[in-house]
Amino acid sequence: MKIITTVKEMQTEAEKLRRRGKIIGLVPTMGYLHEGHLSLIRIARKKADVVVISIFVNPTQFGPNEDLDKYPRDIKRDEKLASETGVDIIFYPSNEEMYPERYLTYVTVEKITETLCGTSRPGHFRGVTTICAKLFNIVKPHFAVFGEKDYQQAAVIKQMLRDLNLDMKIITGTIVREADGLAISSRNAHLSPEERQDALVLNRSLKFAEEMIQNGEKRAEAIIKTVKKMIEEKKSTRVDYVSVVDPDTLASLEKIEDKALIALAVFVGDTRLIDNRIVKV
Ligand code: PAJ
Repeated sequence: MKIITTVKEMQTEAEKLRRRGKIIGLVPTMGYLHEGHLSLIRIARKKADVVVISIFVNPTQFGPNEDLDKYPRDIKRDEKLASETGVDIIFYPSNEEMYPERYLTYVTVEKITETLCGTSRPGHFRGVTTICAKLFNIVKPHFAVFGEKDYQQAAVIKQMLRDLNLDMKIITGTIVREADGLAISSRNAHLSPEERQDALVLNRSLKFAEEMIQNGEKRAEAIIKTVKKMIEEKKSTRVDYVSVVDPDTLASLEKIEDKALIALAVFVGDTRLIDNRIVKV
């Protein structure tokens, strides 16, 4: 496994691989790898000749009061897990390498970045699309793999590909959960034991919402109200949003006809967690 830290070296390597006819698969990450990331690497491993992961905690996608400074990092552990899972190249650039002095260009996807997480994290998706566009130009992948845990993020990236005619594909992987149902996230490391227990209500309330829908409830408002109530009964939780949207357009639904995405963000203590579930009637 190679570790590449400069843009130039990564681009040269990618060009060389492409000339040899190799299929390059990219899994973009912010590191502190867990089973969620590893599941995406395994998907890439099946379809690519060369699997590249990027590890970069991207400052432009964090707001001023968010957790950039305390974002967990452990590159040695990441190297071990990546190599055991069959990664060929880790692209691991510095901040200066990605955002040198006089950096001025950003990519903005409109509309679908203005709902769900976009409402409470202004500028977040602008940072995500900018860094992903850069990574795609540096790693030159034939496809990139994203997790459905960040459903809106994958939708925004797909939109960017369409709109900017980027010649590659996006593949998504399903949400990987702990045995008790909590969606795996690097941020789970910040939870106290009590908060970790309270956090189970995210997945439980989504499951309950699914049951309501399958038992005939069609009104999004009624579902949102029930889910919010379940979450707010816990001591350490504060709802950021609970939404029922069209899985394709992310537009709010009033009535659930055939399928819906129920998405939520909840502060558990100071840690903001997200989860979602696609429900088919
Ligand atoms: P990060 O949070 O490290 O996540 C990297 C990828 O892993 C994302 O596609 C995310 O959806 C996926 N992932 C995280 N937890 C998962 C889980 N429990 N199950 C399945 N997939 C999971 O998302 C980012 O980094 C950044 O925004 C990035 C795209 C790298 C741009 O900076």
